[in-house]
Amino acid sequence: MQGKTVEIITIDGPVASGKGSVSAGVAKALGFHVLDSGSLYRLAALSCQREQVDPSDEKTVEAVALKLAPVFKDGRIYLQKEDVTEAIREESVGVMASKIATSKLLRKALFDLQRRFAQPPGLVADGRDMGSVVFPEAHLKIFLTASAESRAQRRFNQLKELGITSNINNLVSDLKERDKRDTERAVAPLKPAEGARVLDSSQLTLQQTIDKVLEWYHESRA
Ligand code: CDP
Repeated sequence: MQGKTVEIITIDGPVASGKGSVSAGVAKALGFHVLDSGSLYRLAALSCQREQVDPSDEKTVEAVALKLAPVFKDGRIYLQKEDVTEAIREESVGVMASKIATSKLLRKALFDLQRRFAQPPGLVADGRDMGSVVFPEAHLKIFLTASAESRAQRRFNQLKELGITSNINNLVSDLKERDKRDTERAVAPLKPAEGARVLDSSQLTLQQTIDKVLEWYHESRA
């Protein structure tokens, strides 16, 4: 018996390039599920922070990731019944996430968890290696980018909406440091997947970016 087809769109890109909002908009328009893979790295990072795990201690980081069992419900994220939706967005958690994300063991531990999000009718998956490693069979692969300045401004606004105070200069330097680490790491480095279409959203509104992805998706199905 043939399994149900799952349409997959991957949206990879650097820090705060708008992947989350664009993925949510595209998924809503198509009635697809969403995987914010960065949230899994952030959940592992938050747990490591709380358990005071050294990010270079790969074995312990892997053990923390393997017992994560996060629950995603009504747009909220829970860890052992605690709502950590805001806590994982702290910039310090993002920095820790990019440190532990260099580990091959951790990436392997999160692989199956990510694959399980591929449910009919379709999935929009965002992250760094969605098109290159986790869903190489995706129908449409996007590499979403934007200038460092507009990304820092977007992250500043996003954190403000969540009630998290931040400093724009610190955000620019965190963002550059994280992009460098994500791009230069040996395992699953951040780069456009083979066959990915590059979309620079610096001059586009959120809706224009979503519309462009939808246009490319319909083109790819024609
Ligand atoms: O939203 P933002 O761009 O700040 O990052 P995120 O998507 O929440 O991911 C946080 C960190 O997790 C990134 O800086 C990456 O180091 C790592 N990550 C990864 O390595 N692979 C993914 N598929 C997703 C995130």
